[in-house]
Amino acid sequence: MRLSITILKDYDSVSREGADVVAGVIAANPAARIVAAMGDTPQGLYGELARRSDAGELDASGLFVYQLDEYAGVGPEDPRSLAGWLVRSFMRPLRIPPENLVLLPRDADSAAYATYDRSIAEAGGYDLVILGIGPNGHIGFNEPPADGSAPTRAVALSPASIASSARYWGSADQVPRRAITVGIAGLLKARKMLLLACGSHKNEIVRRALLGPVTAEVPASYLQEADEVTVLLDRAAWNGS
Ligand code: F6R
Repeated sequence: MRLSITILKDYDSVSREGADVVAGVIAANPAARIVAAMGDTPQGLYGELARRSDAGELDASGLFVYQLDEYAGVGPEDPRSLAGWLVRSFMRPLRIPPENLVLLPRDADSAAYATYDRSIAEAGGYDLVILGIGPNGHIGFNEPPADGSAPTRAVALSPASIASSARYWGSADQVPRRAITVGIAGLLKARKMLLLACGSHKNEIVRRALLGPVTAEVPASYLQEADEVTVLLDRAAWNGS
């Protein structure tokens, strides 16, 4: 197990350092299987990768991209879907062909999600998982309580997640109440995990996740048990100011 925590000056430094980590994975395996979170935090990293790709410094077009989570009942063609955002902010700018996107099962039963988890494991598991952390310690939409054995499944979104998704939906009323998420168990099997957090509003949860006990009440605390985790924080996320 290897957990490294790096505190950087600001958001742009986190984005650049994160892009270096992703570029390293691509250099080692241009056809790597990558899970890329949505949300605001990794957008700077994705923008930096796109800049390097445009400058001819990076070729990410051979990556296979696996969806991390999705609002229930929202198809990839819906601009509010996380899949749509993934295509717009990650795949298209990096010239990754649409057929390299692996979507989560939709409207499935638990047997179908279990089949999905098995198919990922049989394909060799994820090479890299890029994560943000929710205000309640969620990773993906693994809402508390969720422990290290949580499989891919449909979940009820917590009030905290509904409130934090409201900015993408116009208002909290419009946010779907359910979502589908890759489970913590599948994420933990990844060869490498990259967690990004920025801003003083993440300070308390970052400290609980990285320094506190491993507990289902803070799903991100299970990262302490992963094989290789790189955590990149800005000063505000670490110090609280
Ligand atoms: C989104 C996702 C979420 C976010 C988390 C942090 O695909 O998986 O777990 O990573 O809610 O969101 P931001 O980065 O917007 O603070």
